[in-house]
This record gives sequence, C-alpha cells and structure tokens, in this order.
Amino acid sequence: MDIKAQLLQLKEEIKKEVQGIFDEKVLNEIKVKYLGKKGLITSALKSLGSLSPEERKEVGQLANSIKEFLEETLKAKQEEIEKKKLEEILRKERLDISLPAEWFEPSASHPVLTTLKEITEIFKSMGFTVESGPEVEYEDYNFTMLNIPEHHPARDMQDTFYTSNGMLLRTHTSPVQIRSMLKKKPPFAIVAPGRVYRKDMDPTHSPMFHQIEGLMVDKNVSFKDLKGILKIFLENIFGNNIPIRFRPSYFPFTEPSAEVDVGCTVCKGKGCRVCKNTGWLEILGCGMVDPNVFKAVGIDPEEYTGFAFGLGIERIAMLRYQITDIRLLFTNDLRFNLQFRGIE
Ligand code: PHE
Repeated sequence: MDIKAQLLQLKEEIKKEVQGIFDEKVLNEIKVKYLGKKGLITSALKSLGSLSPEERKEVGQLANSIKEFLEETLKAKQEEIEKKKLEEILRKERLDISLPAEWFEPSASHPVLTTLKEITEIFKSMGFTVESGPEVEYEDYNFTMLNIPEHHPARDMQDTFYTSNGMLLRTHTSPVQIRSMLKKKPPFAIVAPGRVYRKDMDPTHSPMFHQIEGLMVDKNVSFKDLKGILKIFLENIFGNNIPIRFRPSYFPFTEPSAEVDVGCTVCKGKGCRVCKNTGWLEILGCGMVDPNVFKAVGIDPEEYTGFAFGLGIERIAMLRYQITDIRLLFTNDLRFNLQFRGIE
C-alpha cells in the first residue's frame, strides 16, 4: 500500500478508535500512538524524505491535515468527556431550591414549666435566690429536722415512697429549707422549685407533682413580711384585685401556720364546682419557722426569725388554664400539649 493510502486509512482508524472512548487516560494513549515521537503520523512525516518533491508536497499536506484532524478530534473528545463529567457532578449534587422546606411542628412550652418559671421570676425580682435539692432525700431532712417526729401520720407508708436503702422520694420541697439553713448564714431569702412525690392518684392528685418552697430568715422577720410578700406574689399571678385571705392552719415546721386562699378565679366568688361552692381556692401553706426547726440546723431562734411557704405548681397552672384533670398534664397527649403553643 502506498503512503497516501496508508494515511487515509489512518484517518478512518482514528475515527473508529476515538468514537466509544470516555476515558481521558485512553484518549492520551491514542494521542501518543499517533502523534508521539514514534507515533504513526510522526513516522509518516519522517519518511517524506524518500519521496519525490511532488509526492512529498502532496503527502506532506495530507499527513498534516490528518494530524490536524486527529488533534481536533481529540480536543472535541476531551471537551465531550469534561462536559459529561460536569453533568454527572450536577446530577449528583442536584438541589431543587423550589421544593417546599422541611416542616417542623412548632413545639409548646409545658404549662407546668411555664408557671414554674413565672413564679420563680416573681420571687427573683423581690431578691430571692433559687436553690435546689435532690429528689431522693434523707428521712431526717424530709421529716425529722422539720419537726415531724417518727410516728407522725405524715410519714405514713400510705403517702411516702421509701427507697430500699432507707431514703425516700421527698414528699415536699421543705427539705430544701433544711439544706439551705445548713449551708447559709442568715440573712437570706430563697425559693426552691422542684418535683415531689406522694402515693396519690385522682383527678386532682398525681404521684409526682411540682412545688415551690420559699424561706426568708433574718432578724425581726415577721408575719407581716410574709403577708406582704405573698400578696405581691399572688397579685402578680392572679391580677391586682384578687381577694386574698389567710386561714389559721397547722404544719409541724411552722408556728403559727396559715393557709392562703384566693377568691375563686372561675366563678369570681359566687360558688362553683371548682371552688366546691365556697367561693375560695386554697393556694398555699405558710407560717413562721418553728423554733424547733431553727434548733435542728443550729440557728438561734432567739436571734433570728423567719417565714416559709410552699405551694403546688400544678394547682396554679390548672387554675390559670382551666384544666380540670391533673393527669392531662402528665400523659403527653399532643392534642393537649400543643394547645399551649405560644404561651410562655
Ligand atoms: N410543705 C408543706 C406541704 O407540702 C407546705 C408548706 C411549706 C407549709 C412551708 C408551710 C411552710 O404541704
């Protein structure tokens, strides 16, 4: 075969060879095969010397045009490969910004937590600091040092959850009074919110509920101070004109003791199911710290006096949001919980 025919055949070969290739490496190998130092076109150009001048011109032009053709073909193929690569990347990293965003159900703050936070804030604004204590408590702190002697009915197995190692689940937040007085020197004013436990279960009682304890100790603290502080607190929670009354009561750790009622928020004092037709709602227990409690923690009752109070958070929350069954607060039914969206 003469050299012209060879070159033309080469062109056909190149076309075929390049067609199905999508690999840059293979493409490079082809380039070397034809255009490299020992490449087919290169050697064709080298052999021009042995031709006659006319042939040389003709064959030279042909060889050059094939060289160009090859270069263009490879370049086009290279571009095609790059385009494919880019398309592949775009396909894999596809992001449709017109798709609707993922929907998050807005949550709601639990009414017990909302109420607890709000009550705590009111006392903080009056200078009370916030204390806490453990839920698994010593019998001494929960009872004995609070002037509740060993055979007092309040300790009854019916009400108290005891642990196997002789401790108990605190039945009120009052042990935090003991912990604070052991830790601090008067004067101080603290509140202690937290969970408490009692063996109780009906529409108004849950075996776990929340209380907030208050304690102020200083020289010359009087019942008048207690009344003033509680009045400010209750007006903040229930509104300025809420009727308030102090009723004599009994707690082992306070003397004198009182229970505080507010005018029924549901019937405005006329009498209804919620207030059991009395027109009043019992809100909290309070009193002046009993000297026996001071003695138990090493505070001299001749030098210091103090007041304490304790109230149930659930009860306040139920009154504020007109919830009639305490168990609704703890069953985590979203139909209930989500009604408090936006209330904080
Ligand atoms: N600890 C009492 C209770 O749980 C409430 C209380 C606290 C009463 C402080 C007086 C003083 O019922």
